[in-house]
Amino acid sequence: MSSSNPSDSSAHSGAAVLATGPALRLDGVRKVYGTGENAIVAVDHASLTVDGGEIVALLGPSGSGKTTLLSIAGGLLAATEGTVVVGGEDISGHSPRELTEFRRSKVGFVFQSVNLVPFLTAEENLLVVSELAGARGTVRKQARARAKELLAELGLSHRAGNLPAQLSGGERQRVAIGRALFNSPALVLFDEPTSALDTKIGEQVMELIQSEMRSRGTAAVIVTHDTRMTHYADRTVRIVDGVLGLGDAAGDDH
Ligand SMILES: Nc1ncnc2c1ncn2[C@@H]1O[C@H](COP(=O)(O)OP(=O)(O)O)[C@@H](O)[C@H]1O
Ligand SMILES: [Mg+2]
Repeated sequence: MSSSNPSDSSAHSGAAVLATGPALRLDGVRKVYGTGENAIVAVDHASLTVDGGEIVALLGPSGSGKTTLLSIAGGLLAATEGTVVVGGEDISGHSPRELTEFRRSKVGFVFQSVNLVPFLTAEENLLVVSELAGARGTVRKQARARAKELLAELGLSHRAGNLPAQLSGGERQRVAIGRALFNSPALVLFDEPTSALDTKIGEQVMELIQSEMRSRGTAAVIVTHDTRMTHYADRTVRIVDGVLGLGDAAGDDH
């Protein structure tokens, strides 16, 4: 695997590269769960560079290490070995406290099972991050205005006051996208964002993800096991048994 390098993005010219330097650089990342006989190598010496504004699909079967790799890229999980640099910040040696601050300001997450707070409305779910950070006064007002603006952009203004249980699956995922974009991160990580949705709604959500990333110049890694979703990406990287390999060009493999 060492001879093929999926991190080589020099041939890539799809996305407008707005940010300077890559949004994400993984270098020799390895993750081993457990020890001794029970050790499982979930990710093996993975190297990957995602340019600013670039959308990368990470495609692989169940159990191939996709969630592990995404969690490491977002500072939710520490790698056993290797370097993780997000937007120029090397998080490999970060303390838990530094990682919390990093996650709050630099990355957005959208998970498969939408993790909205069930007793908060759509608008309050967008505000949860700034509220946790202790926003008061003017900052709080600005945060509210931004939540309204984002919900409008996502076509959810009429749903702002609804609880997650009162929303459809597609609407819930749109709220989760809004929350991930709330702090204007340079990188958003999506873990199978459409797997719980039917095909048509899934495609609408992918179109929304694509246009939101493009209009902001935000980079994204979108984990999927569905080859139909790869044509929304600039580039597809495959993962099998924790090993990254070059994918087909976006749109060629379905
Ligand atoms: N917390 C964990 N402890 C032990 N093994 C794990 C843990 N999380 C994942 N694994 C194992 O690591 C491998 C990769 O898992 P994962 O990253 O969840 O794959 P994917 O998201 O592609 O389905 C699998 O063999 C899985 O069983
Ligand atoms: Mg997974």
